[in-house]
Amino acid sequence: MTAVGIDAVEVWTGNLKLDLAETFAPEKGDDPEKYTKGLGLRASSFPDSYEDIVTMGANAAKRLMDRKGLTPDDIGRIDVATESSFDNSKPISTYIAGCLEQVYDGDFHHANKGERKFACIAGTQSVDDAYNWIRAGRNRGRSAIVVATDTALYARGDAGEATQGAGAVALLISEDPDLVEISTHQGYGSADETDFLKPNQQFPSVDGKRSVQVYLARMREALEDYESVAGDVHIDDFVYAPFHTPFPGMVRKAAALAYRHVTRDTGVEEELAEGIGRQPRRESFDDDAQYEEAVREYMDALKETGRYQDWYAAAVDPTLSIARDVGNWYTASVHLARVSALKTALEADRDVTGESMLVASYGSGAQAEIHGETVQDGWAEEIAALNIDEQVADRYDLSWAEYEEVHDRHNHDMDSELEEFTAPEAEFVFDGWGRMGERKYTYVE
Ligand code: CAA
Repeated sequence: MTAVGIDAVEVWTGNLKLDLAETFAPEKGDDPEKYTKGLGLRASSFPDSYEDIVTMGANAAKRLMDRKGLTPDDIGRIDVATESSFDNSKPISTYIAGCLEQVYDGDFHHANKGERKFACIAGTQSVDDAYNWIRAGRNRGRSAIVVATDTALYARGDAGEATQGAGAVALLISEDPDLVEISTHQGYGSADETDFLKPNQQFPSVDGKRSVQVYLARMREALEDYESVAGDVHIDDFVYAPFHTPFPGMVRKAAALAYRHVTRDTGVEEELAEGIGRQPRRESFDDDAQYEEAVREYMDALKETGRYQDWYAAAVDPTLSIARDVGNWYTASVHLARVSALKTALEADRDVTGESMLVASYGSGAQAEIHGETVQDGWAEEIAALNIDEQVADRYDLSWAEYEEVHDRHNHDMDSELEEFTAPEAEFVFDGWGRMGERKYTYVE
C-alpha cells in the first residue's frame, strides 16, 4: 500500500506577544509561576490589527507552496479547520484560496474546499479527510492543503485568558510523504459533553475544571479504542507523543495517566513496584473513594520516579517547546506539538527516521483521537526549512494597556479601530470590508 501522510508543514504565528510572567501575572496580582510552572506557559501569541484566521492561514499556506514549488494545479483540496470562523456559510478556505490566487498564476477552481468544525480536533479530522480522499484514489495525483487556523481568544477576566493564542499550521497531505506516514490504525473517545462551547458567540463559555476532566476521560477512551485495533501500546514503542496542548500543564496530566495505563501488567510496572508498589486495582478496595485516593497517591509517586521522568523528558517534553511561547492554537495545537518534537530531534542531531509517534488530538464537546505515525526520511530537511524561532522572536511585546486595546480590536461586538503595532512584510493582511460584509485581503510585499 502506498504511504500517505504529511509531506510538509509550515507555521505562522500572530505577530504580537503577551508575556504571562512579566505582563499578565502582575496585572492579575498572581505569582508568575502559576503561569510558567503551573500552566507551563511563558507567553501567548496575539494577532495584530491586520491579522485574522485568513491572513495567518494564507501566510502559512503560501510558505508551504513556495517551499515545495507548488502551483494551484498541484492542489485538489483546500480544507480549513477552525473554531474562530466569522461566517456561518462561506468557508474560510474560499478566502484563503482567494488570497493565494492573488500571488500565483492559475487558480483553485478545480479544488474541493471546505471547513471543518469540531473544536480543536477539527485540524486532525481535516487531515483524515484528505488522507481518505487520497486513499480512495480520488486525488488524480494531486495533494491536499489542510490549514488549521485560530485566534484563541477568551473574554477578558475568564480563567482561560491565560491560555490564549493565535496562529496557523498548513499541512501538505500527499502520497509518498516526506515528513510522516499516517497509519490506518486510529482510536476514538467521543461523548456529548458541555465543557467548552461557543453557541453563536465569539468567546467561549468554559467550565475550565470540567474541561480538564473531560479531556482526560476522552483521551483514555481513545487510547483503549486505539489498542483494540493496533494492539497494546508499549511505552517505549514511540519516540514522541504529541498531544493537543491547550497549555503544557494539561499534557503533563494526560501523559502521566497514559503512562499508568500502558505500563499496567507490564515489566515496567513490576520494575517500578520495587520503589512505589503496584498500581492500585479497583477490586482491592471497598469503595470508589478509597480506590481514587490510592490512585492519586500512586500517580504522585510515579511522577517522582526516574523511569517516568526520563520517559517524559524524552517523549513528551520536546512536544511542548513551541506551545510554551505561543499558547493555545486550538485546531493547530497538536500539529504544532508534532513540529516541536521533530524540531527538538533536529536540534539534538538525532535521526528519528523510521521511528513511530503516537499522536493524540482532542476537541471539546468532546472527542479525542489517537493514531500512529512513522517519521519519513525527508523529515530533517522539512523541519530545517521552518523559521518559527525567528517568527516567535520577532513578535511585538505588548504592554497591558496595548493588550486590552488589541483584544477590543478583535472583539466582534466592539467597533474599535487600532493602528498596527508591527509593519507587515511579505504577508497577507486584512484590508477592510466589502459591500456584502465580506472581509477583504491584500498581499503586502
Ligand atoms: N506556582 C506553581 N504552580 C502554581 C502556582 C504557583 N504559584 N499557582 C497555581 N499553580 C498551579 C496549580 O496548582 C495548577 O496546577 P495543577 O492543575 O497541576 O494543580 C495550575 O497552576 C493552574 O492553576 P489553577 O488550576 O488554579 O488555574 P485556573 O483555575 O486559574 O485556570 C484552567 C486553569 C481552568 C485550566 C483555565 O486555564 C481555563 O479555563 N483554560 C481554558 C480551558 C482549557 O484550556 N481546558 C483544557 C482542556 S479543554 C481543551 O483542551 C480544549 C481547548 O483547547 C480549550
